Amino acid sequence: MIAFVVAAYLIGSLSFAVIVSKAMGMADPRSYGSGNPGATNVLRSGNKLAALLTLLGDGLKGWVAVALAAHFAPRHGLDAQAVAAAGLAVLAGHMWPLFFGFKGGKGVATAVGVLLGFSPWLALAAAATWLFVAVVLRISSLSALVAALLSPVYAYFIVGPQSVFFGATLVIAFLVLHRHKSNMLKLLSGQEGKIGDKADGDA
Ligand code: G3P
Repeated sequence: MIAFVVAAYLIGSLSFAVIVSKAMGMADPRSYGSGNPGATNVLRSGNKLAALLTLLGDGLKGWVAVALAAHFAPRHGLDAQAVAAAGLAVLAGHMWPLFFGFKGGKGVATAVGVLLGFSPWLALAAAATWLFVAVVLRISSLSALVAALLSPVYAYFIVGPQSVFFGATLVIAFLVLHRHKSNMLKLLSGQEGKIGDKADGDA
């Protein structure tokens, strides 16, 4: 079990916002906007391709970590608990990355990737919620907060309250909400900007 958790944590520690930005010769996303190494903040640079690659990379690593655990766990006599633990570990790696001074992102894209590994319908429900709020209100953090709050409700009905994936989804929702504390304050004070607004989110 520990090997699965460590491997997932290391995969999660790959911060694609920083890696993609460096590879494309752009400024470090931790140095502008909200300072968050995530797709929303990379978009503030004006480079949509870099934001898309960040979103895909961060999402994919969540799915890869869970899929690897799901593939190898049964061969090592482990069950769904190891898969759920890998999901939490990859998210923890994204939020507190070993390779980037433990200063990581808010976990939205990675969380959706993890949920995809748990259940495609669960990921679809969470992603559709994010997209719906984002299209209507154009505020990334609010979309993430609503999706995070509703994900355990979706999990309750999709995987069931007895499933270890329901418990893991509860923890994921809590972690994502916790990482959005500064966004909540901005939302409450009317300071949170719109998606793609370059002036938005200045620290
Ligand atoms: O996915 C992160 C988003 O919810 C908030 O990012 O940069 O606006 O704090 P940011």
